[in-house]
Amino acid sequence: MGHIREKFGAVTAIVGTQWGDEGKGKLIDIMAPEYDIVARATGGANAGHTIYWQDQKGETKKFVFHLIPAGIMHPNTVCVIGNGVVIHLPTLLEEIETLKGHGVSVDGRLLISDRAHVVFEYHKKIDALQEDMKGNAKVGTTLRGIGPAYADKTSRIGLRIGELLDFEQFAGHFNRTVEYLSKQYELAINIAEELDAYREYADTIRPFISDTSRYLAQALANGKTILLEGANATHLDVDHGTYPFVTSSNASIGGIITGTGLSPFALESAIGIVKAYTTRVGAGVFPTELTDELGEKIRQAGGEFGSTTGRPRRCGWFDAVVAKYSVRINGLKALNLTKVDVLTGLPKLKIGVRYSINGAEVHDMPSDLGFYKDVTVHYEEMDGWEEDISNVRSFSELPENCKKYIIRLEELAGCPIAFIGVGQRRDQIIFRF
Ligand code: GDP
Ligand code: IMO
Ligand code: MG
Repeated sequence: MGHIREKFGAVTAIVGTQWGDEGKGKLIDIMAPEYDIVARATGGANAGHTIYWQDQKGETKKFVFHLIPAGIMHPNTVCVIGNGVVIHLPTLLEEIETLKGHGVSVDGRLLISDRAHVVFEYHKKIDALQEDMKGNAKVGTTLRGIGPAYADKTSRIGLRIGELLDFEQFAGHFNRTVEYLSKQYELAINIAEELDAYREYADTIRPFISDTSRYLAQALANGKTILLEGANATHLDVDHGTYPFVTSSNASIGGIITGTGLSPFALESAIGIVKAYTTRVGAGVFPTELTDELGEKIRQAGGEFGSTTGRPRRCGWFDAVVAKYSVRINGLKALNLTKVDVLTGLPKLKIGVRYSINGAEVHDMPSDLGFYKDVTVHYEEMDGWEEDISNVRSFSELPENCKKYIIRLEELAGCPIAFIGVGQRRDQIIFRF
């Protein structure tokens, strides 16, 4: 048994604790060799999970996964796309082809839930139309059709991956749904063309379709181990996030259970991924945002441009209120603090430690967005460090000020920081347990 699994158990989940892009993909890639199965549960191609992979010639290559679990590079890992994911098949097929081009075959080790919903081109169109109609209240979505696909799912007009197994039935349901949606939107869908494309996709993905909830239960019964790959993040969760500036699924721990069909009692732990500062793509509140030169400096140093859309990410100080909330919502056992190396060279670091409004203390994330207009964030300031930490591999070797910063974040978040990221590559991590 590997040392990570010994600590976190046979079934553990990786969850984003801020507004996404915390570095979930990297930890998944690091942990995958210790687990038999890596399963995605929620979201769709709005997610972009980056890993750096060394090929046989020793060259490091970057991969960004939108739908395929980030454990796929490990040949003994089975990857599952669970029922809670919404799947844009052309994106999935492109990912499969890219992997093939690098000599990585998914055959026999990629399972797609028959209950997962399909994202069609018209979902993307509706996404864009809805964003336009919202004007100043735009969410700033990834325009991947995520919201409209989940809306169809809950409106009970969505199409599921399993329906592709009976194409005539699929075509009938497609026609019915298009007719229904065309009464609400001008979509100009070429039904025959779409169906032709889907007939081909169906042929390609048929071998991967299965009842993945049953597969996971049987795997567990046979002593297999499972790593659950969260997508998006807790503060983008449709219930627990900064609604309405959120995604359209439950990106926190509950969604990981419903999105895989695993029993909640199978889960042994959850690990939260948290950046050493804060970023957010798209609109919505961001109490510790830096809109000045310092924010730009962090953006450049951290390469903070969206993995999915290339949009510049908004940057700001670490927000302990945000982190603590995610520790509670997800019942986190530990945190992986990522991108600590990015802060190297900043003379002073600030941490948002609490909020108040008109002098009154606020102890948690309020649900009313109006609140954030008048919020005062109370900061603590700490000294930074100058030393390059990207080659440090043990906590004790970190500069004193860096250690102090990490220990303070841990205290404020109320959760042990067990992993510390000091660079993009998979070896650039400090294990602290
Ligand atoms: P995810 O969506 O949570 O998987 O995160 P993304 O892949 O969208 O964005 C995280 C970015 O930070 C990627 O480019 C990662 O390669 C990079 N990254 C992850 N951990 C670290 C780290 O510890 N240091 C640095 N410098 N980069 C990191
Ligand atoms: P990963 O898994 C960062 C954000 C979008 C937008 C809002 C709604 O890579 O961390 P959507 O397209 O889901 O309707 O957009 O949610 N968002 C993300 N931001 N990382 C993600 O995923 C995100 N998934 C959604 O930017 O603000
Ligand atoms: Mg990402």
